[in-house]
Amino acid sequence: METAAILTLAITGASGAGVARALLTLLERDARVAHVDLVASPHGLRVAREELDLPEGTLDQLAHRLLGRPAHKTEVHDDRNIGASIASGSYPSQGMIVAPCSMGTCAAVAHGLADSLIERAADVCLKERRRLILAVREAPLNRIHLQNLLAASEAGATIFPLVPAFYDGALTAEAMTAQFAARVLEHVGLPQPGVFQWQGQRPRQA
Ligand SMILES: Cc1cc2nc3c(=O)[nH]c(=O)nc-3n(C[C@H](O)[C@H](O)[C@H](O)COP(=O)(O)O)c2cc1C
Repeated sequence: METAAILTLAITGASGAGVARALLTLLERDARVAHVDLVASPHGLRVAREELDLPEGTLDQLAHRLLGRPAHKTEVHDDRNIGASIASGSYPSQGMIVAPCSMGTCAAVAHGLADSLIERAADVCLKERRRLILAVREAPLNRIHLQNLLAASEAGATIFPLVPAFYDGALTAEAMTAQFAARVLEHVGLPQPGVFQWQGQRPRQA
């Protein structure tokens, strides 16, 4: 990425809030990133609270609560604020990561719904031909899910299922989450140091 990045991170109500936390942590500490727009759906907030034991707080404090320390470059938006910066194609965002992405949000994106800020910002990414990553998580997938995934992909989104790799020697959920987050960031032009690269055989365990 040549210029300092402005990226959107959206959290929706699928399981996997730890991935959103890992992504925000990496984005906050990345010198190539100038600004992060963070938005969570109401269901995303609910699931994140349950999965991460988030401390109580206001929406404004969401980034701080996810990171466990003050955020320096993250602006939190209300999902109901359809007038936020990221709702417009004129805002110079380079792309958007929805992680975790529920099948509900995937369906909305696939069909061009734009009722919430997350849906609208994703729609803007597609119309402006910007990167849109959908880290969907559901199992098993029904026919409607599969059709929506194909429709979103054909519209320009990258379907990046929240599925960890098992060949990289990462044995803990935390390590798998970190590797997954790093792989997602590679796809938005932010390769991460230390990320696992396959060298022809599985690394030996220490
Ligand atoms: C604890 C919990 C876990 C959930 N996990 C998933 C999931 O992994 N994938 C999914 O598509 N929906 C999941 N859901 C259901 C979504 O939260 C629900 O469909 C919601 O309407 C999604 O709304 P949103 O896309 O606006 O966030 C979960 C709900 C709860 C309460």
